[in-house]
Amino acid sequence: MSALETTFQELFGHRAQVIAEAPGRVNLIGEHIDYSEGFVLPFAIADRTYALISRNNDGLVRIASQQRKNRIFTIDINDVKPGSAGEWEKYVLGVIWSMGVTSGVDILVDGHVPSGAGLSSSAALECSVAVGLNTLFDLGKTLQDMARATQRAENDYVGMPCGIMDQSVSLMGRAGSALLLDCRDLTTESVPFDVASAGLELLIIDTQAHHALVDGGYAERRASCEAVAAKFGIPSMRHLSMDILVARRDEISETEFVRARHAVTEIQRVKDAVAALRASDFTALGRLINESHNSLRDDYTVSCPELDEAVDAARAAGAQGARMVGGGFGGSAIALIKADQIELTKDAIRKAYSAKNFKAPRFFTSLPSAGASARLLQ
Ligand code: GLA
Repeated sequence: MSALETTFQELFGHRAQVIAEAPGRVNLIGEHIDYSEGFVLPFAIADRTYALISRNNDGLVRIASQQRKNRIFTIDINDVKPGSAGEWEKYVLGVIWSMGVTSGVDILVDGHVPSGAGLSSSAALECSVAVGLNTLFDLGKTLQDMARATQRAENDYVGMPCGIMDQSVSLMGRAGSALLLDCRDLTTESVPFDVASAGLELLIIDTQAHHALVDGGYAERRASCEAVAAKFGIPSMRHLSMDILVARRDEISETEFVRARHAVTEIQRVKDAVAALRASDFTALGRLINESHNSLRDDYTVSCPELDEAVDAARAAGAQGARMVGGGFGGSAIALIKADQIELTKDAIRKAYSAKNFKAPRFFTSLPSAGASARLLQ
């Protein structure tokens, strides 16, 4: 029995029946367009969250965390509905609810995706629980079903109006490849991501910043895109072109115009990035990554001083491309850098941060890794 299984037995008095795991993610390009039916190009990182699960006959949901073993959150399964009690446990409860589970379960979570770093620790948690429940109860849900269920958990149970990118890549990621995801129908294509062959590495820079704007700012950006779509009578930004946007500019506000411009140009950048990767043209990829950041900073206004500083310092140190990733207002940035310049770049970013009195950044690297999986233990 693993140490985690032993903890499970000590906490709940019986053995775990399933072990599941799901990774966090970074996004190469395609930011703030998943909720506009766009294309995104994320990959699953090596860091993951584990969930041990078993049924119980008490009609209770009991949730514990390896990181905080002194607390077992307990709730009657009949009370698992939006508005219930719970803090981080709501991510777990939301998945139980959205997957339609109606019997008691015991769950021990062991999270190894850095939280608050914009690397989707919440999606990793949701997806580990989803694949675990799917296996335990033999629910027969597809990866697409589970992506929609975990997104519903976050939208309707936790109350964060996120798109579907993070959950999809946590479930569907593949080792060695970025995942081109069509957020309209959840079809995917693997795009080889082999920067090492070109002597490059992708550095992940956790700014350690987390601004209060995060939730409200995200919802407001999403609402702008939906407002433009409604005014133009189209289903989403996916159906908009630059020509139409410019021609109908006076029907929308200036803020709506620049936000829609980000969405339209970002969808095109994802397509161009896929072509660049397929042609091993990392110069073009770097340029697109830079353009994506500039658009998020200037048009979509979801960057922040710490993200801009990391990106500027990485670029000044010679990065081929650098940009913020995820929702913004803090979290992480990525930089595509020559492998032999990684240390120099980290130093440059550290220095720039200390000159601005920002909290010291943290650095990670990760190759594209496999998506979620689960197996029965007994
Ligand atoms: C967060 C959301 C995603 C996506 C990104 C921005 O990570 O959870 O759905 O919208 O922000 O691309």
